[in-house]
Order: sequence, then C-alpha cells, then structure tokens
Amino acid sequence: MTDVIRVSPENPDPASIARAAECLRGGGLVAFPTETVYGLGVNALDRTAVQRLFAAKQRPATDPLIVHIGSIDALPALVARVPACLATLADRFWPGPLTLVLSRSEAVPDEVTAGLNTVAIRIPLHPVARALISAAAVPVAAPSANLFSRPSPTQAAHVLEDLNGRIDLVVDGGATTIGVESTVLDLTSEIPIVLRPGAVTLEMLRDALGDVGVFPGFGRDASTTTGAMPSPGMLEKHYSPRASLTLYEGETKAVLPILVGTAHKELANGRSVAIIAVEEDAHELAALALDRRVVLRTLGSQDAPGTAARTLYATFRELDTLGVNVILVRGFPAGGLGTAVQDRLRRAAAGRIIV
Ligand code: TXA
Ligand code: MG
Repeated sequence: MTDVIRVSPENPDPASIARAAECLRGGGLVAFPTETVYGLGVNALDRTAVQRLFAAKQRPATDPLIVHIGSIDALPALVARVPACLATLADRFWPGPLTLVLSRSEAVPDEVTAGLNTVAIRIPLHPVARALISAAAVPVAAPSANLFSRPSPTQAAHVLEDLNGRIDLVVDGGATTIGVESTVLDLTSEIPIVLRPGAVTLEMLRDALGDVGVFPGFGRDASTTTGAMPSPGMLEKHYSPRASLTLYEGETKAVLPILVGTAHKELANGRSVAIIAVEEDAHELAALALDRRVVLRTLGSQDAPGTAARTLYATFRELDTLGVNVILVRGFPAGGLGTAVQDRLRRAAAGRIIV
C-alpha cells in the first residue's frame, strides 16, 4: 500500500516531513512535489533503493536520474570538477528549475547515472522538496513520479494514478506551479548546451553565460534526431497518449482549417475527437465545439506560456481518461517558456506534425 501525507505547500508540518525523510533514509520510495513536477525520490547513495525505483517506474536502466540536493555544500562530494560558470548559474537560478550535468565523483552509484561519467544535479525551490531533502540529509535521486511513457505528474492524484501500490509514500503538497520538467544544461561540453528546455529559458541562460548552445534534437521528437545522444533519456519514448495525437504547427490561417477539416473527417468516421488549442483559436473552433462528440480544451493564450505549461500534462491525462480516439493539437509558439511547451507537444506527437 502507498501512504499519502497531506502537507501545506508553503509551510509543511515538520512531523510529516520527518516521517517522509525517515522513509527515504530507510530505502523507501517517496513521491514529493517540486516547483516543476512531482518527483519520485530515493536516497541516491542507496543502490538497492535506486534499483527498486527503476522497477517501480518501469524505467529503462539506461536513463539516468537527477540528484536533488538541499544546498550547494552538498555538491563537491558528488562531482569531480566544479566548472567556473557554476557559481554564476547557482547565484541566479538555484534553488530553482535548472538541472546541471557535471562530471561525476566516485560517490555517485552507476545505477543513478546509467553508467555515464556525468551526473545531473538540481537544487529545487519548492518548500516541501527543500524541507524533505534537508531532513533526509542525503542526496535524493528523483525522476518524475510517473510510469515510464506517461505524462509527468503535476498533482498527487496523478502520482497515485500511475504508482499506487508500487511506492511507499506520497507527500501531497497540492498542484505544482511550473508544470513542465526542469531545464537540463550540460556543462561538460565545450560550451554549455541545453539538453531539455524548461522554465530557466535559453534567453535567461544566454544572458547569464553568453554563449549557450542547444542540443540538435532540441524541440524535436528524439526519434527524428540523428547523431549521438548526449542525454540517453532523450531517447525515452516520451508521453504517448492512447489516442493518436497530431500536432498542427504554423500560421493560424493556414493550419486551423486543416485541423478543423480533419476533425470533421474523423467525426464522420465515427471517432471521438479532442482538440487542444489556445484562446486565440476560440472563434475559428466555435462551430466545431458545439458538436457533442468534440472535447475542446484550451491551454490559455499564446502570450501566456506559463498557463500552458501548468495545465498541459493534466490535460493529456484527462483526455486519456476520457478515452477519446483522436487528439488534434494546435502548435505553441517558441520563445521563453513557450519553447518548453512546444518541445513537450512535439515529443507527445512523436513525429506526427503537420506544418
Ligand atoms: O523537473 C525535473 O527535472 C523533475 C523533478 C522531479 O526534479 N525531474 C525529472 O526527471 O524530470 P526525469 O528523470 O523525468 O528526467 C531527467 C532528465 C532525463 O531526460 C535524463 O536523461 C536527463 O535528465 N539526465 C539525467 N542525468 C543525465 C546525465 N548525466 N547526462 C545527461 N542527461 C541526464
Ligand atoms: Mg520523466
């Protein structure tokens, strides 16, 4: 059985945190909120616990984990070298939604890094995550708390949907505020490279560091990318809804009529249709939305990527639960956090993109 402890997101009760920390220290699997998504935590230095975590998530052992620490003081023990730019990044973005890939030290088990000689490290900002890591007083390896290939959880209920009975404890601190996973920045290459876009945006990183590159597969489905993968997890068959999902990118005038036409065709063939759109599309989709076989969800305005990021994964999960046959998704513009939204939509579409 999986226990659930509810805590205040801003001010978690110390006795509840102590209980969760004890579970972690004893080798348990504990899901907890971070500012991005819920993580499934284990003591990063406990190989057996890390192996149990991979089994619970059904995650391939080739996909390395992020190690979460409470303060920069815990960093030197985990890494072989501290690059010069780390202080600048830590000053600006830690604690927060930025994960740094660094050369690892011997202390980090192979199970955590999937045998790589690098380790991914993050200091989260969420008060519950901070309290838990500090009370556990160990580095906490934590992937997103979902089953492999399902959307990352942004609420405790999502964690239970996937992992009830498979993990020891869920610390329920309400919905997460950012909603998409942290930015992953590789500091072991010649110039820093963004491997996964997130709330610490490329624009922010370039402002802090100057030259910052992007992984060639950035914003694209990993299966369409050729060449060496610096991040094995990017090969992850990402969230794939049970319904077939197609993404429509490009100018509204050109692409919305195609989306609407496809919706009518699918309906005529007896299939149920969901549309994920933005507020700006409401007018063009109004007629279609009157059809009772159509589920219309909006991610908010194109100008407010924060809203889209926060609601995206819950929307995917809802549509899976409703069991719609076909999901048609309006592309989201890149720029700032919009780049992360676009990236997750493209991964979900797994190559089914109409431009
Ligand atoms: O926001 C987040 O990052 C959440 C919360 C819980 O912190 N965690 C998360 O973990 O999204 P996960 O395991 O779902 O994604 C971790 C990503 C994967 O794409 C993985 O391949 C990459 O980080 N990664 C981990 N270690 C790496 C390494 N040594 N080199 C390159 N990429 C690495
Ligand atoms: Mg994940």
